[in-house]
Parts: sequence; C-alpha cells; structure tokens
Amino acid sequence: MIILGIETSCDETSAAVVADGTQVLSNVVASQADLHARWGGVVPEVASRKHVERLLPVIFEALESANLSLRAVEGIAVTNRPGLIGALLIGVTAAKALAYGWKLPLVGVHHLEGHLYSNFLAAPDLAFPFICLLVSGGHTEIVLVESHEQRRSLGRTRDDAAGECFDKCARLMGLPYPGGPHIDRLAASGDPQRIAFPRAWLGDSFDFSFSGLKTAALRFLETDGGRTPQEDVAASFQAAAVEPLVRKTIRAAQTTGVRSVAVAGGVAANRGLAQAMRQACEEAGLRLVIPPPSLCTDNAAMIAAAGAPRLLRGESDPLSLDSFASEPVG
Ligand SMILES: Nc1ncnc2c1ncn2[C@@H]1O[C@H](COP(=O)(O)OP(=O)(O)OP(=O)(O)O)[C@@H](O)[C@H]1O
Ligand SMILES: [Mg+2]
Repeated sequence: MIILGIETSCDETSAAVVADGTQVLSNVVASQADLHARWGGVVPEVASRKHVERLLPVIFEALESANLSLRAVEGIAVTNRPGLIGALLIGVTAAKALAYGWKLPLVGVHHLEGHLYSNFLAAPDLAFPFICLLVSGGHTEIVLVESHEQRRSLGRTRDDAAGECFDKCARLMGLPYPGGPHIDRLAASGDPQRIAFPRAWLGDSFDFSFSGLKTAALRFLETDGGRTPQEDVAASFQAAAVEPLVRKTIRAAQTTGVRSVAVAGGVAANRGLAQAMRQACEEAGLRLVIPPPSLCTDNAAMIAAAGAPRLLRGESDPLSLDSFASEPVG
C-alpha cells in the first residue's frame, strides 16, 4: 500500500511516500530552523505561515522523488496531535482536501506515535514487545510497546524534556538554536568528567527530571566566566543528561523481561546517547534499534509508518478529523 505521510506539527514541513508502512520511497523535510533561530525558538504564527507556503511544493517533491503521481497514492496519514495548533491545521487541511479530491482513506496520527514507528522503518523485523525511549524536544518517556494497539507508559519527565534541556543549556553557552546538535558536536572532543553535573535518579521510578541539570549548568556557567573549554562543558552536560536515560531504559527492559530496546525522537540522533545505549544493551544482551538521524527528527515518513497499520486494516478517520494541541501518547 502506497501511503502519503504529512507532518506539520512544529517547524518542519514534511511529506513522504512509504510503501506498506516499512519502505521509505521518499522523505522530504523543509526545515524552518534557520528562520526561527533569530528568536531562539519556534514562533507559532511564523511556522504556520511557512507551512502554507511550503506544504504543496514539498508534497509534490515527495511524489516526484518517489517517481509516483498522486494517482498511485492509496492512503494518507497526517499528524493531527499534539503540536502547534495553527501548524497542525495546515497539514490536516491539506490532507483532507487531497483525501476528498482523490477519494482516499485518511488517518490522523499522534506525533509521538510517529517517532515510535520510525523504528519500524529502521528495522522492519522489530518484534513486539519492545521498550521505546522517546526523547524529543517536547517529550521524554519510556514506553512498553506490546502491540500496534497496546502500549503502556512506564515513566516520563516530571519537568523539562531532554531535548528542551539540551536546547536551554546550549543557549546558556551562547550556541545557536536548536542547540542539541551543537552540544553533540562539541561533546565529541570534550572531557565528560570535567564537571560533576547532577543526575536525577528519583528512586526506583522510571520518571525523569532535567530541571536540576539545567539549573546546575546555569550556575556553573555564571561562576566559570568562560574559563572551562566549551567542549568540556558540553561533554559533561551530555553525560549527565544521557546517564539516567540509558540506565532507566535498560532497567525498564529488565523489569518487564523485554529483549528489545528502541530509541526515538530528535535526541535519539545524539551520538553520546547512541554510544552509551549501544554499550549498555550489549552488556545486558538486549537488541537495540536506533533510527538514522533523518528519521529521528520530525519527518513525514514516520507519520506514514504510524498510520499504516490502521490504513492496512481498511480503517480511516472521517473528514471531520480534528487537530489537538495536546494529548497524551497512551
Ligand atoms: N544530535 C543531537 N543531540 C541532542 N539533541 C538533539 C540532536 N539532534 C536533535 N536534537 C534535539 O531534538 C529536539 C528536536 O526533536 P524533535 O524534532 O523530535 O522534537 P519536537 O518535534 O520539537 O518535539 P516533540 O516531538 O516532542 O513534539 C531538539 O530539542 C534538538 O535540540
Ligand atoms: Mg518531534
């Protein structure tokens, strides 16, 4: 089944063509990051206006690079929750118009479910059950994925998301938005033990907390006055952010008796996290799946993959499909 995926929940305008929910035929992403960088974060109204300008060209580019015409599309999957409401509405309206005009089934997809399904694009043989660490700009959560229909949240952040913490720390260091990739780059040549930033363990809970780390970074940078090399600050910060993510994910797999671990969301592109997770999974004898960076950050291929199970079962949403700014993943 040829599925057209559409994603406009934040500042990436994306369209993709995916076959049978696992094979990416094209995945076009027009990022607005440069546009929003001057404000240090996404400006919702600006994001919506850019989506209006870019969405149709991006959809046609996705079809063209898949060597297909709209006639070949058999279903449409669109992110309809959660996200910036104005931004979501652009993608959902376009998806409805195409579905109506071409008489195609349409399904609304939860953005985080999209991140989760990026793992099936990276590893089509990934079997249930598995533990997924969802780490993105707005979410940090450990999910036990039991089947396409059933999943259970084991823990989540009690304050900042990991990606948000990366971005805030980067901003304090004077790095451009979004800061996560810059911290990653600097950390590669820094000393992770130079500064003992705090790790929040929260007892036996699978919850996370990153606000203490953010405050510790702020205090350190205020008193340090730029004496410590940025590489060492980045490496020490990254180590403190990554350690609870890895340890709790492994413990979640061991506690539930699950043999496979997956990582998804923008922060899954972090090389420090990937390296630490790889080592921990090897030691614990667990299978690890981490999608390539292009499938970790926001993209429409993961939305098509997440919509595929329902479309393949012959299900669809009505054209009255609504958009929602927030909704928990469960
Ligand atoms: N290499 C990296 N290292 C650390 N963080 C990274 C890296 N690459 C991207 N990120 C972070 O990932 C986040 C963006 O991820 P994503 O696009 O999934 O988030 P979002 O869509 O804004 O939020 P959500 O998916 O929760 O709604 C940003 O915080 C960014 O800094
Ligand atoms: Mg995202």
